[in-house]
Amino acid sequence: MKILIVNGPNLNLLGTREPEIYGSLTLDKIEQELLEYASKLNVELKFFQSNIEGEIVDAIQKAKYEWDCNAILINPAAYTHTSVAIRDAISAVSLPAVEIHISNIHKREEFRKHSFIAPVCIGQIAGFGLDSYKLGLNALVDNINNKPA
Ligand code: DQA
Repeated sequence: MKILIVNGPNLNLLGTREPEIYGSLTLDKIEQELLEYASKLNVELKFFQSNIEGEIVDAIQKAKYEWDCNAILINPAAYTHTSVAIRDAISAVSLPAVEIHISNIHKREEFRKHSFIAPVCIGQIAGFGLDSYKLGLNALVDNINNKPA
């Protein structure tokens, strides 16, 4: 099983970006931890980060048509609240997807409460820091394994 992990804009700055909200782990460190975690689940990971909406759309398309991924774990960051293009890409490839956030977007500013992406995902996980990614991975693995062939 292969899962694409997409991180959206400004998540390349994790570690120094508002650590009181997003913690002190860098994206590199998060990716290392996830690789270790995924190896126990027998899952292969592919990582993609971009600050550019269209590049994220391309990556979602490639997940299906080039990279042979079975599922997508996505932290769309600010594009959560704005991007119809990313939503449509997830819908178009019809791979199971889970939206995750490091912070609890529901107890922050009002504009963060709305997600364009969540309605085309199995579900949304928010507020657990690095564990949001791990919980999302588990949810995808369970979803794929419980699906009839
Ligand atoms: C975020 C929450 C978003 O509202 C914000 O724009 C981000 C990070 C999170 O992981 O908590 O960049 O997706």
